[in-house]
Amino acid sequence: MTQNASLDLPLVRIADLAAHADRDVRLQGWLYGKRSGGKVIFLQVRDGTGLCQCVVEFAAGAAFEAAAACGQESSLTLAGRVRRDERAPGGWEVLVSTLTVLHAAQNYPITRKAHGIDFLLSHRHLWLRSRRPTAILRIRHTVVRACREFFDRQGFTLVDTPILVRGAGEDAQTLFAVDYFGEKAALAQTGQLYLESACMALGKVYCFGPTFRAEKSKTRRHLTEFWMLEPEVAFARLEDLMALAEDLICCVVAAVLAAHGEDLALLGRDLEPLRQVRKPFVRLTYTEAAAWLRSAEARAWLEAEIERDRARLQTLADELHKVEQQQAAARRAAAAERLDARAAELREEIRDLQSDLESRPEHIRLAQNFEWGKDLGGSDETILSRRFPTPVFVTEYPRQAKAFYMKRSAADPRVVLNMDLLAPEGYGEIIGGSQREENLEALLAAMAEHGLRPADYEWYLDLRRYGSVPHGGFGLGLERLLAWLCGLKHVREAIPFPRTLGRLEP
Ligand code: 4AD
Ligand code: MG
Repeated sequence: MTQNASLDLPLVRIADLAAHADRDVRLQGWLYGKRSGGKVIFLQVRDGTGLCQCVVEFAAGAAFEAAAACGQESSLTLAGRVRRDERAPGGWEVLVSTLTVLHAAQNYPITRKAHGIDFLLSHRHLWLRSRRPTAILRIRHTVVRACREFFDRQGFTLVDTPILVRGAGEDAQTLFAVDYFGEKAALAQTGQLYLESACMALGKVYCFGPTFRAEKSKTRRHLTEFWMLEPEVAFARLEDLMALAEDLICCVVAAVLAAHGEDLALLGRDLEPLRQVRKPFVRLTYTEAAAWLRSAEARAWLEAEIERDRARLQTLADELHKVEQQQAAARRAAAAERLDARAAELREEIRDLQSDLESRPEHIRLAQNFEWGKDLGGSDETILSRRFPTPVFVTEYPRQAKAFYMKRSAADPRVVLNMDLLAPEGYGEIIGGSQREENLEALLAAMAEHGLRPADYEWYLDLRRYGSVPHGGFGLGLERLLAWLCGLKHVREAIPFPRTLGRLEP
């Protein structure tokens, strides 16, 4: 077939190949990988919708020469016949008749060998093209859509809140300062205070946008820029907010399981914990959680967990030993590559588990000495969220550990009507929310306790002066949710271009 003739063929996305069996089509994409078998070259082509094996035979002439010359991530268009092939990734392959290289790439920096995470993060603009990041980005898209549809069905109105703000909405220590024409301003840490205003206008509202926290610590749960989904509901009580959060999480988990079996498999995600997510979630008060952390039962459970993980470490070490022996004996390049990749995976998992095990005794010590009144620490959250198979609500924290706007409990004035939702499998807090203090005097008293000046919150106080009602809401951290759903070790993989302490590029 000539170049011009192929232009008449339908342009097809790889995901839609099955609908074009035994027909000639055109594809546009990039070269993901290449394997040569003498008189035939197998191109792995990706187009953003999937991967497709494209077979170029020596008889294809110019196409064969072009295929032989182009490097990884060259951009191409090709024409050929779609064929069923059980062995091909995706089940379909294309027998190529013409191939045009739009841009011949050479020495693409991300190869099949195992790269360190710092290298990959510094090449994030290219790393995005790899299978793991694209799987995560697709799941992120589904999560966002499922959340929006959920709130839409429930009669919520989307209200966009400002990003440039006067001051703190949460902890003043994590404010990013901005110069606003000579005035001091900051990047929003939350849309909440504005949503409280909007819910008095529209009843049920939510915002979804980027939020900023100058987090100076490097943890696997913290970004300095992250996306937060925040509903706020007039007349809602704490119980209503927990029911809403529960429904939201169940709906998102179901949407991801329904649409992303392949992506989750590629990420190596064990689906069983996600399938177990159903209502009702476990509910613990902070006081109960604190008592459990200090208990002998917790100690015994944590020690048994260490034993289990030591056994797992041994299993991994045994497998690595076997793989290393096979590596030494491997002759075929493809087999060697597979073994190298598995060995790198095993080494990483062993390293992570070892360092995790090293910190366990300290975590047990912290848990056993947990004092009522403190906020739960990262390790305490991890422990609680490993303890139960479903997400866990921890409610009614001590006043001093939480934000000024949270409503005090009438039953126990030492605590506030708040909830954190901890995701299982050690992921920890994914949602933080509360009923808000709607009484002007009580709010002013809380602000005084927190050292805040009423003058800085005049408009916010107005909401308590004109038709105040009980109300509340919560914030769901999108990247934390995704990290759990995808089984990621760190939230930085859950956002296209992560911002963390020391990383502002690309
Ligand atoms: O618990 P937080 O700080 O709550 C608020 O900001 C409330 N004003 C929300 C509300 O009631 N409308 O944050 C809410 C969630 C956390 O549970 C977590 O999932 C996420 O936001 N989050 C972060 N995610 C990534 N990096 C960070 N530095 C985060 N800080 C909070
Ligand atoms: Mg919180």
